[in-house]
Amino acid sequence: MRPLFLFATASFWLVVLGFAASDLWLPAAPQALPPVTTSKAHSLAEVARHKTPDDCWMAIGGQVYDLSSYLPEHPSDPDVIVAWCGREATPAYLTKGKGRAHSARADRLLTEYRIATLRTP
Ligand code: HEM
Repeated sequence: MRPLFLFATASFWLVVLGFAASDLWLPAAPQALPPVTTSKAHSLAEVARHKTPDDCWMAIGGQVYDLSSYLPEHPSDPDVIVAWCGREATPAYLTKGKGRAHSARADRLLTEYRIATLRTP
């Protein structure tokens, strides 16, 4: 009876210590990333200060986007999109300047460049 008691006690503590120690070497459970939110708001006057290909902000649909790093990837002739840097570009984005909407993929891409909401006077 006594050996059985000792074996059960030892096993119990081995399991407890095992759980405690596993916390030390197992990687922490991945935390959910916080949603990309920003409480910043920029006016059109501030957007207008970023009107070059290297520093290109646009106001589209009430949001402000910093598209500087995206411009070289845009599939059109650069002039087509660069012309809208520093400006309210909602109609241009919605029509591509020729009456055709961008794809859902373009809409998803756009969200990656959002930096603020557009402050209306
Ligand atoms: C605001 C000014 C913009 C104008 C005038 C413009 C215009 C155009 C034009 C002419 C094309 C190529 C021809 C075509 O597909 O019909 C095009 C394609 C495309 N643009 Fe733009 N674009 C603008 C902004 C943007 C922005 C801000 C994004 C995303 C961050 C974007 C993403 C794309 C993509 C992914 C395509 C490939 C076709 C598609 O998926 O719709 N564009 N755009």
